[in-house]
Amino acid sequence: MHNLKKSLLGVATLATAFVLPVGLLGGAPAVAKPDGPSGAAAGWQPKTLRQAAPDGFVIGTAVAGGGHHLDMPYPDPFPNDRRYRHLVGKEFSSVSPENQMKWEFIHPEQDTYNFAPADAIVKFARQHGQQVRGHTLLWHSQNPAWLEQGDFTAEELRAILRDHITTVVGRYAGQIDQWDVANEIFDDAGNLRTTDNIWIRELGAGIIADAFRWAHEADPDALLFFNDYNVESIGPKSNAYYALVQQLLADGVPVHGFSVQGHLSTRYGFPGDLQANLQRFSDLGLSTAVTELDVRMDLPAAGASPTPAQLAQQADYYQRFLEACLAVEGCDSFTLWGFTDKYSWVPVFFPTEGSATVMTEDFERKPAYDALLATLAAARS
Ligand code: XIL
Repeated sequence: MHNLKKSLLGVATLATAFVLPVGLLGGAPAVAKPDGPSGAAAGWQPKTLRQAAPDGFVIGTAVAGGGHHLDMPYPDPFPNDRRYRHLVGKEFSSVSPENQMKWEFIHPEQDTYNFAPADAIVKFARQHGQQVRGHTLLWHSQNPAWLEQGDFTAEELRAILRDHITTVVGRYAGQIDQWDVANEIFDDAGNLRTTDNIWIRELGAGIIADAFRWAHEADPDALLFFNDYNVESIGPKSNAYYALVQQLLADGVPVHGFSVQGHLSTRYGFPGDLQANLQRFSDLGLSTAVTELDVRMDLPAAGASPTPAQLAQQADYYQRFLEACLAVEGCDSFTLWGFTDKYSWVPVFFPTEGSATVMTEDFERKPAYDALLATLAAARS
């Protein structure tokens, strides 16, 4: 796969067609690809992202639910929006619960787990031949009040984390391909979050290695990741991961991957050394992944339409991000943080920005979608 990937870089062109009626595109979710290395010889044209993806390369989406969705006027997206659900199955070969495996959602009270929504996602993935990325086990955010405001001793907290990891990872053992074990443990300066991360604050940095060990015991087949934002480029934050990972590997801790979230804004430009950054982690023997890609842009008003130039710039960012991952051996999992603006977290968290995903609120494909499709197709031909 490595050589194949390498030779195909930069071949894809930026598609310019904008609105394609998604409803016209039929096909079962797991469409068999034609025989032969590419299928292109027979004139076969992929119609969905997962069809277009090279063998062994998964293209994923977050599955909307929980988090900000709970405050929105629409019903719970994944169980209720049939068109959305259909596209999750048809377009993607990997799914990530957007919030449904986070502590506050799956473990709302100390003695209560809420597994049903996560179970439904894992079942859907199995039925549709999809991988699952588990998200997340050790994080400073979206923890339940009983935990953050509890009055626990260090020993109790350690047991709480161990039980949680053993229970959640164990429940889905064999069904989750990659787990974001530790999420966002460094700040932008590359310092460990010793204040706002309850685990690191109360238990010290050594708890990170323990979290990986416990996850590995609960599911020896899952690849275990560090995941963060603002680590696309080489800089203080990604350097901190680079140093920590080397230390943990030297200590024999089961760390298998480093992933970049990829929450981009056209305000800040494209992270130019993304490929080199992924490559240096790959060179340590790790898998790498893109886990939460979206590309937001400034809009004159909430819900306003982007200009063609903005959409072209967005498509260019998506395409270059994908090309960087395709170019790096072991970067085999590429996930969008949602694929339709209908459910994007962006306008809620970045009020003057929006249009961050590859489809409109009506599921019309943007140039970014076409760019991903063309780039994937070029990488498998
Ligand atoms: C976001 C979700 O998309 C929202 O629904 C939720 O309200 C807040 O969290 N980094 C992460 C993701 O690791 O879990 C976050 O997801 C986005 C930033």
